Amino acid sequence: MTQKRRTLIATMVAASFAVALPMSAMAQKKIVLGFSQIGAESEWRTANTNSIKETAAKEGIDLKFSDAQQKQENQIKALRSFIAQKVDVIAFAPVVESGWDTVLKEIKAAKIPVILTDRSVDSKDTSLYVTFMGSDFTEEGRKAGRWLLEKVKNTKGDVNVVELQGTVGSGPAIDRKKGFEEIIKSEPRIKIIRSQTGDFTRAKGKEVMEAFLKAEGKKINVLYAHNDDMAIGAIQAIEEAGLKPVKDITIISVDAVKGAFEAMIAGKMDVSVECSPLLGPQLMAAVKDLVAGKTLPRRIVTQEGIFPMEVAAKEFPNRKY
Ligand code: AHR
Repeated sequence: MTQKRRTLIATMVAASFAVALPMSAMAQKKIVLGFSQIGAESEWRTANTNSIKETAAKEGIDLKFSDAQQKQENQIKALRSFIAQKVDVIAFAPVVESGWDTVLKEIKAAKIPVILTDRSVDSKDTSLYVTFMGSDFTEEGRKAGRWLLEKVKNTKGDVNVVELQGTVGSGPAIDRKKGFEEIIKSEPRIKIIRSQTGDFTRAKGKEVMEAFLKAEGKKINVLYAHNDDMAIGAIQAIEEAGLKPVKDITIISVDAVKGAFEAMIAGKMDVSVECSPLLGPQLMAAVKDLVAGKTLPRRIVTQEGIFPMEVAAKEFPNRKY
């Protein structure tokens, strides 16, 4: 081959790359998702974070993940940084329900769609977000209440309940309380004699249960904890006070994480209402649909069950979180 011909071929190959490169680069452009997580307060939250990170990696989505350490101000900062980074979609699990309107309006002005996961906001303007995916917390509270009604139906006398609430102002704390109270009001013998926040953590669940035990002692018949971590902390407090969980105090909880199954198998927890943290697959599918211009349903509800201690050992091998 002559030198002239070699130069011509080299020029043609280079020219074809010049055209092909931007096209393949375009085809490979990853969707960028900004996700603001509440924190790492519970076993549930860790499973939720893992589900989101693993699914994003699997689906080839570029995830900008930010942990707010349970502070709304940190979440607001993260959301603003996602606007500055011009991400394609923003998703977040709001730590509390109120106080989001200003930042949500800023996101809307930047034309970035918002997906709420796990918890919702109380904004009147529902055009500020596209969809809310997650559990029906009120129904979870109702399930806990119905289980208790059934448990006490053949007994006599007062049923004194102490309640460990989740984070003050958060959707699950508000709704799990509401759902539980809605059901137990049909049985006036069931009384909530103490109710306080344990902030969804094991350490605070234990601390608050110690205070309940100090104040009410053996009057306490039932513990209703808004999550398993607080229940597990409280179980420790009950044992340290010389009482037996399940036998002396009925333990009702929410989440159904592996820790709760271990407690049930050990005979220390009566029941856990399921709240699934495995929102990653649903979230990534919704993000892809949004970017493809599809319309999403306004509400995507997670389907969940309830696990009493009698089924714990059989169900345990099937648990994914
Ligand atoms: O919002 C879901 C709740 O948050 C879970 O029940 C709890 O464990 C978590 O911290």
